[in-house]
Amino acid sequence: MDKKRIKTELLVHDLKTPIAIIEAGINSLMNNDERQETQTGRQVKILSRMLRNIKIAKGLVNDILEVGRSSEGIINNKRCLLCELLIPPMVEIIDLTDNAASAKIKACEDINSLKRELSDKGIILNVDGGLWQKEVYLDPRKINQIFRNLISNAIKYRNKIIDIHIDIRKHKDQGENLFISVKDDGEGIEKIYHQKIFENYFQIEDEKENCIRGHGLGLAGSLILIEDMGGKMYLESGEGKGAKFSVTLPLRAC
Ligand SMILES: Nc1ncnc2c1ncn2[C@@H]1O[C@H](COP(=O)(O)OP(=O)(O)OP(=O)(O)O)[C@@H](O)[C@H]1O
Ligand SMILES: [Mg+2]
Repeated sequence: MDKKRIKTELLVHDLKTPIAIIEAGINSLMNNDERQETQTGRQVKILSRMLRNIKIAKGLVNDILEVGRSSEGIINNKRCLLCELLIPPMVEIIDLTDNAASAKIKACEDINSLKRELSDKGIILNVDGGLWQKEVYLDPRKINQIFRNLISNAIKYRNKIIDIHIDIRKHKDQGENLFISVKDDGEGIEKIYHQKIFENYFQIEDEKENCIRGHGLGLAGSLILIEDMGGKMYLESGEGKGAKFSVTLPLRAC
């Protein structure tokens, strides 16, 4: 790794400490019953907004570090159930806007109640109950980042609904692949942008309306992680027809 990149990554890494201190401070102000009684509604609202945004900052720092680790070929596969891999990113995304809903989702004890809670948030989860409990051998941090970015885009650009499909597909020569697709019912993406959106910092809105809604890094980073795990990402979309991002990841034996 070149020296300049190590220095930049170290700076990003060091951001974790002040972010953790700020997060702990806000959490303590929000969870202390005595103090909460003396806080006005406006103060609680401001603290909640600060907590949501500090979580976003923490997510971005972790994303940058994970892409760096991945580019160095570091894969930390662990044995875990598919549900253990895929519930945390959904909870994280929903938690950014609706703390009560994310707590309910976290508390779900079976797949049917999870599907019900998610559908209340306009998220349709299509997965077989047995498969949801299947043990896989994958890198949880990378899966979290990929899935989180796809869901966050779908929620950002949807009209009302997003559709998530999880499956295991067998290929003649390659063995089993985990298949994840995230589809929204939004404006969709014109063909001319289908490659460009996977480039660092590229945003269609930037070109069209000059307004910034993110960083243009989510898809580029996710693609790096997917390819480092030997997987592929596909986009199916047309203007006005929503967008469907599909990911396939080879499943290795535990
Ligand atoms: N589901 C989608 N529907 C329509 N356009 C999309 C969708 N997902 C991504 N895009 C387009 O692709 C661009 C790049 O997406 P990407 O996730 O890389 O960046 P971002 O969401 O803008 O910012 P970041 O993910 O870094 O916060 C977006 O700015 C948007 O123009
Ligand atoms: Mg994004």
